[in-house]
Amino acid sequence: MCGIVGYIGNKDTKNILLDGLKKLEYRGYDSSGIAILDSEINIVKEKGKIVNLENKLKLENIQGNIGIGHTRWATHGEPNEINSHPHFSSDKKIAVVHNGIIENYLELKEKLQNKGYKFISDTDTEVVAHLYHSYYTDDMLDALCKVLRDIKGSYALCIMCSEHKDKFIVARKDSPLIIGIGSDENFVASDIPAILEHTKEYYFLDDMEMAIITKDNINIFDRDKNLIKKEVFKVDFDISLAQKNGYDYFMLKEIFEQPLCIKKCINAKILDNDIFFEKFSITNEQIKDINNIHIVACGSAYHAGMVGKHIIEKMCRIPVNLDIASEFRYKNPILNKNDICIIISQSGETADTLAALKLAREKGIKIISIVNVVGSSIARESNDVLYTLAGPEIAVATTKGYSTQLAMLYMIALKFGYIRCNINESTYKDYIKELQSMEKYIKNCLSLEDRIKTIANKYYNIENAFIIGRGLDYSASLEASLKLKEISYIHSEAYAAGELKHGSIALIEDNTVVFGILTQDDLLEKAVSNLKEVKARGARLVIIAKEGYESLRDIADDIVFIPNIKEEFMASLSVIPMQLLSYYVAINRGCDVDMPRNLAKSVTVE
Ligand code: G6P
Repeated sequence: MCGIVGYIGNKDTKNILLDGLKKLEYRGYDSSGIAILDSEINIVKEKGKIVNLENKLKLENIQGNIGIGHTRWATHGEPNEINSHPHFSSDKKIAVVHNGIIENYLELKEKLQNKGYKFISDTDTEVVAHLYHSYYTDDMLDALCKVLRDIKGSYALCIMCSEHKDKFIVARKDSPLIIGIGSDENFVASDIPAILEHTKEYYFLDDMEMAIITKDNINIFDRDKNLIKKEVFKVDFDISLAQKNGYDYFMLKEIFEQPLCIKKCINAKILDNDIFFEKFSITNEQIKDINNIHIVACGSAYHAGMVGKHIIEKMCRIPVNLDIASEFRYKNPILNKNDICIIISQSGETADTLAALKLAREKGIKIISIVNVVGSSIARESNDVLYTLAGPEIAVATTKGYSTQLAMLYMIALKFGYIRCNINESTYKDYIKELQSMEKYIKNCLSLEDRIKTIANKYYNIENAFIIGRGLDYSASLEASLKLKEISYIHSEAYAAGELKHGSIALIEDNTVVFGILTQDDLLEKAVSNLKEVKARGARLVIIAKEGYESLRDIADDIVFIPNIKEEFMASLSVIPMQLLSYYVAINRGCDVDMPRNLAKSVTVE
């Protein structure tokens, strides 16, 4: 959601900015723009895809050694050229790009208008341009400091002044920003892929920190303008992981990376048939004393949390409250001593999830986070972080991110269950062994690709779908349904199979497609009855079942069998055919799989 790139150095600024913005396309956007400082600041921006901006730039001869760029995901004001960033001060001497939301912008706008400032856009960001102008004398840092004192909300800001041709200035709060360290050049960006071609070394800016960036220097300051020393981070993955490597789409590449990612994630925690969470600050005694676990997340991470709740409750007999982050933060949650909070987030930057974390922490609750992006805000704000090690996930629809979250939740359930003596040693070791075979089982599911393609060809033009299951299969159905709707735009609903009768079965008519996920022995009979109920009303049934449920062939229009492994882990397998199916259905419908309309990968606004 919104991407920022900044460059200062002797190379082709325009191309570096454009390339950087393209690498951030996955975050989701609906317009883009760049500002380059030469004798004056030139801004070019355009609605729609970056290629529109690129085409417009071909008609302009803009050059310079310093520039900032932005992809905008509209929040305040429609996605048009005027509302796109960068935003100018009225005298065109200051240009600003911003990711986040200035919550008190209306109040500030009114004050500035009273002082004579004229606004041309509907955005909250334009306030920053004029406010900065109102404070600016000659000291860029001082003006920024004053702006930060006035604005409320979240921001990653990058600002250029035409009077300072050798520097730009940045600040952040609750929106990601990194500073890439080059030689004779430096960069800023919302995320690593934007700078990876140029440097592997970078600083993370923390909340309320600011930096002045020149070609040869990066000076970072705290909120009181004290110079501070920051740790240099090194990108720990290869650039090829952030490229398509021959696949048509990142999503397909990431689906096929899952066996390797799962292996990496599991192997990092398992040694000699035991699970270790290195440097965990929570002691075994504290784990034994846990009264409640609160799992909080958004989107697919929430769906992973639902599987986690099921398995933790089963293995540990600890009650687990599962909440969507945007609900949790406003419901005055009941958090007691001896509770812990598990926060799940692929990006580590989701605004609601981060706010939920802060709320739980303020109440004195220990936070364990399951995060993919190393060093992200959620990771840094947690007491303990478990990195999923899936590598960069570029496609908006998560696949390997979700799968590795599941793996991590299984390991938490097993380890905590074992520590609390809810599962004995032989069961514990047995499950660990099964986890270590997960790579093989997932490969097995991926080998169903051709079969799934055929099914996708048959059903791709439907407009509605139901996906049903019971227990863990219901949790898997929710994720399957989200995958299908977000990339193919097919209206899809997941239901707990037993609940369908309480209203939604009214929507079943001849040829309605119902997907059934069936992997749980003790729920099989009941789930089959539910499938028969919809079949009797004309539904076509596509079933994902575990091997051994051969009799389901009798009722299925199409059926796919997945390996029969320990039931607690089946959600990791049933999701794979549904990811592939969603992908091929979307391809058949001509959808932009990696960048579905209206969606953003990293949701950094509430
Ligand atoms: C967005 C993404 C989803 C993701 C959700 C939570 O909606 O499109 O794929 O599940 O955010 O993101 P997080 O980074 O916190 O896991």
